Order: sequence, then C-alpha cells, then structure tokens
Amino acid sequence: MTEPKVLEELEQVKNAALAELENVKDETELLTWRNTYLGKTSAVMKAFSSLGTLVPDQRPLVGQGANRVKTMLEAALTEKTNLLKESAMAHSLASQSLDVTLPGRVIPRGRLHPDTQILRELYRIFGDMGFQVYHSREVESDEYNFQLLNFPVGHPARDMQDTYFIDAPNRGDNPLLMRTHTSPGQIRAMREFSALNPSDPPPVRIIVPGMVYRYEQTDQRHETQFDQLEGLAVGERIRFSDLKGTLTEMARRLFGPNARTRFRASYFPFTEPSAEFDIQCFQCDGKGCGVCGGGWLEIGGSGMVHPNVLRNGGYDPTRYSGFAFGFGVQRIAMLKYGINDIRYFWDNDLRFLEQF
Ligand code: PHE
Repeated sequence: MTEPKVLEELEQVKNAALAELENVKDETELLTWRNTYLGKTSAVMKAFSSLGTLVPDQRPLVGQGANRVKTMLEAALTEKTNLLKESAMAHSLASQSLDVTLPGRVIPRGRLHPDTQILRELYRIFGDMGFQVYHSREVESDEYNFQLLNFPVGHPARDMQDTYFIDAPNRGDNPLLMRTHTSPGQIRAMREFSALNPSDPPPVRIIVPGMVYRYEQTDQRHETQFDQLEGLAVGERIRFSDLKGTLTEMARRLFGPNARTRFRASYFPFTEPSAEFDIQCFQCDGKGCGVCGGGWLEIGGSGMVHPNVLRNGGYDPTRYSGFAFGFGVQRIAMLKYGINDIRYFWDNDLRFLEQF
C-alpha cells in the first residue's frame, strides 16, 4: 500500500512550520504561527476533518500520522513559548540591575521663604515674652479698619493709608476694604477677650501677623502689599516704659545685644501718645545706605492705646491701659538679611529665594 498523499503533504507542512518557528521573535508572531499551523484552517486540522472522506483502510494511517504531526507541533510551540518567556525575563532583570555602591540621587530640598523665617523668629521672641498669635481677617470693614480705631468718617488721617476699597453695594459709610494695617485685629481681639467676661475682662497679650494692602507707589521700601506684625498688651497699670522695654528687648533678641533703637514722637488716631520706632541700620552702622536711607530703618508705629479704642474693645479705660505697635515685617527682614529692595519679596525670583 502506498503512503497516502496527505501524509506526504503533512510532512512538508511540519518541516516548514518548524523552520518558521525558529524565526519567531515575540508573542504576537507566536500567535500568528499557532493560528497558521494549529488553528481550525491549518493543514493538520483539515486532515482530521477529512478522515471521513477517505477509504476506510486509510483512515487509521492518516489519523495517526496527523496526530503525530500535531503532537510534535504542539511540543515545539510549548518549548518556544517558554523560551520567549525566559528571554523576556532576562531582559527585564538586566534593565533592573542595581549598583548599590552608586551615590544616591540628590533630592532638591525646598526652603522657607525669608518672610516665613522672620515671622517664625518673631513668634518665638514674642512667645517667650508671653504674647500669643491672633489671626484677623484681611478683608475688613471701614468700621473696624478705621472708625473703631478712632478715625471717624472723613478724618484726614485716613489719607496716611491709601485704601483699596471693595465694590459692595449698599454699605453707606461702612464699605468693605482690604485692611490697610493689622490694627483692626486689636478691636477684634479685645472684643473676643472681653466677651469672655464683660464685667472683668482678662488681660490681653497678642501679636497679629498678616498681609496688609495699600494703594501706593512702589519703590525700594514700599510695596502695595506687605506683612505687618501688630502687638497689643492690655491690662492694669501698663505704661509707656513697658512698650519701650518690650520693643527694645525684641530688637536685641533679633539683632544682638548691641542693637540700637530709637523712638520718635508721632501721631496715630488710635494711640496717645504715639511713637515711631526705628532700629539702627546694620549694613552701614547708621551712616546711611541703600537699605535704610538715613542710617535708621523705620520699623513701625507704636503708642499707648487710645481710651476710645479700649472702650470700643470692651475695656474700661479708667481701669485698663495698654500699648500697641505695628511693624513692617519685611522691613525687619531687610535689615536682618541686608536686602536693599522690598520688591524682591514677592517677585518669586529663585535667585533671590535660594539665598535664604
Ligand atoms: N497701624 C499703624 C500703621 O500701619 C501702626 C501702628 C500700630 C501704630 C499700632 C501704633 C500702634 O501705620
């Protein structure tokens, strides 16, 4: 009996399949190969489905031959599959290799803005002296920013602080505004404290840090927004010497025991008497330079709390007295770090910020 022709063809298909499998490089190619040689329309599978058309004595022969080819191809497929898996693994391991002796990558560290640094230092200094931090709002009413601080409507001293007003309808003589100073925090704090015990309000020792806004021409020493640090101490028998002692001590703790300070008589509607507070410039030792102007840097205003203001806060001025001050925080930072232009603070220029 001669070999059926199908078996000869299957033998050729098998050889071609194995040769082709050698060149298969990845899973996609492997899938295509499998469809071609073991799929429904492959020669092997067709041989199986054609068994019924053969003469009976050829059936087992062709069946067994086709089975052999199928088993062989399947074995070759399994082997190739494993081979591909192994090489993929080896590849990814190679790319993951790690030299544990290499130095680590440098992580760029952020830093605190010089303004935050100086504020924290001030919190610490005043905290040591018994002051607590009180936060007050940046959007204020005319009433709190001016009227309750003894600036009646139309008072000329309002011109000292060019104000950004906020468009809000129907507020008459009490428009909304961006606070021009942190002093409205005095009223808010005193009212909060005195409400605790109206007939016998507790003493107040607070500092109020925060942004203030002024519609101003900018230059080396002026910005349209800047930080102030307000201070307020209210109690019995508080005197001007307490104010002088507190501010002088602050300057010494900030700048060292030789820091020189001076008070100049001044005017604010909410303090009486009032004084401007200056610290001698470190950059030029008081000779006058780009940081200070005339040898002294004006740090801020201060004075004894006006009786009307105490009353507006719920404190009886016949029993209580107090002192208050308000500093430009950036002015202090300029002096401390030798910065000669206040506009650097909000420029966000990394060349400036990276120096702190
Ligand atoms: N609020 C004043 C200003 O901004 C400073 C000040 C505060 C003066 C407290 C006296 C007392 O100019």
